[in-house]
Amino acid sequence: MNTGLKSPTGIWWKPAHKAERIWVQIAFAWCMVLFAMMPLWHLKGAQNPSGIRATVVPNDFAKRTYEFINTYKVGDDHGVPVVEPPPGSDVYLMGRMWAWEPVLRLRKGAQYTLHLSSLDVNHGFSLAPVNLNFQVVPGYDYGLRITPTEAGEFTIMCNEFCGINHHAMVGRVIVLDDAPPAPGGDE
Ligand code: CUA
Repeated sequence: MNTGLKSPTGIWWKPAHKAERIWVQIAFAWCMVLFAMMPLWHLKGAQNPSGIRATVVPNDFAKRTYEFINTYKVGDDHGVPVVEPPPGSDVYLMGRMWAWEPVLRLRKGAQYTLHLSSLDVNHGFSLAPVNLNFQVVPGYDYGLRITPTEAGEFTIMCNEFCGINHHAMVGRVIVLDDAPPAPGGDE
């Protein structure tokens, strides 16, 4: 039987086999590559958010969000307002225990500035099935320049534990394929 108290049998104190040494060297080299990638990814790559950060009093953020909702509201989804802002506009999404508001209806290929903030505690904005994750922090307006590249329905899930109903904190983003009517109409 092998226990930690008995020394193993065999000549384990002899230098490692050549294959094992090569394996350790490859593993170490790969560690160094990944280590170097950390600062490189910070400087280069499409994964970096187009962050525009500002502080905001939670109540002010709520006020902006409700103003945004009242301006562009087009419907209702089980009591949650559905808004369809014009391309190029500032879009507000607030998280709080335990809901995301409003439901966003966006256009594929159009650019928006998405403002994320929380009214109470830390929440996590996680967009499924695409793998997009952002922290939603009270007191901070996290602005992201986004351009939806895919039409369909997306689910926002909270990925930061925020209390008893954390699992139920689900929101929706709808991306429409068709272009909005051109203003003026001359093409
Ligand atoms: Cu909000 Cu978990």
